[in-house]
Amino acid sequence: MEFPTYRPRRLRRTETLRAMVRETVLDPGDLIYPLFVKPGTGRRDEVASMPGVFQLSLDQLPAEIDELKSLGIPAVILFGLPESKDEAGSGAYDREGIVQNAIRAIKAHDEDFFVITDVCMCEYTSHGHCGILDDTGCVMNDVTLEMLADAALSHAEAGADMVAPSDMMDGRVAAIRGLLDREGYTDVPVMAYSAKYASAYYGPFRDAADSAPAFGDRRAYQMDPGNAEEALREVALDIAEGADIVMVKPALAYMDIIRRVKDEFGYPTAAYNVSGEYAMVKAAAEKGWIDEKRVVLETLAGFRRAGADLVLTYHAKDAARWLAEG
Ligand code: PBG
Ligand code: ZN
Repeated sequence: MEFPTYRPRRLRRTETLRAMVRETVLDPGDLIYPLFVKPGTGRRDEVASMPGVFQLSLDQLPAEIDELKSLGIPAVILFGLPESKDEAGSGAYDREGIVQNAIRAIKAHDEDFFVITDVCMCEYTSHGHCGILDDTGCVMNDVTLEMLADAALSHAEAGADMVAPSDMMDGRVAAIRGLLDREGYTDVPVMAYSAKYASAYYGPFRDAADSAPAFGDRRAYQMDPGNAEEALREVALDIAEGADIVMVKPALAYMDIIRRVKDEFGYPTAAYNVSGEYAMVKAAAEKGWIDEKRVVLETLAGFRRAGADLVLTYHAKDAARWLAEG
């Protein structure tokens, strides 16, 4: 069919019609909200570079979970700010650590709320790298695997519903899956940060989680932004090692990777709409330069259209509210 018989504008005339033929519809049920947890009581400290995002002490969690639930957001991913840090990142696998206690606090309040944990070392190491260092300051891969697996196990023991390794060590999904299975946690899925790039977009997160590397950067373990074929190999490895959900991170500059991963593997795919992406939108909106609601909903729909089944986003609560308003 061609013009003038076919006129695409016919289906764009009214909102009713546009909604009827819309291919991708956003649902708060596909969003995951990142939460930063810290020691203390009565703490609700806003992150300077992420307006509207707070570091919360554990007593704040019940109200936060109730709010998320009322908005239709089913899950959180937890990041911890420990009391103290050391070379070995021992807070990551401390059975009484901040994330382990946060999981128990959430589950005590609402057993059904879905709790995902970020599994990494960088929030717990004094040097801020995602693993254990050798004398040259290089992250040792295989030694780190044991600690990541133990951290994941400690989360499962505390009641986590899913674990999400974000370190980019080789072999970590197999190490985590193996230990969880040996310890009886065969039903705890692994959501792997499979294609995680060494990105400038993580800047505000490192303020939020106090996890900036003390020296150097993460380019020796996170992916080079120029690579796409390598992302597919990373995803293939994680799937072979037992990942249940694969993730692309960041999202906005890597929409092509989301699409290729979804097409190639057909696996449940998550996209992480990261801190810098959030901060840019908030800053422009504060200046009155963009319509935040429309920009956010358009971007989130873009991730879904690109092939993401799930979106991790700091805008989850805003988006859910705007979707409810219509
Ligand atoms: C820890 C981790 C990071 C993010 C999620 N998990 C930071 C990093 O790798 O430096 C980034 C999240 C964001 O920017 O929103 N490895
Ligand atoms: Zn890390």
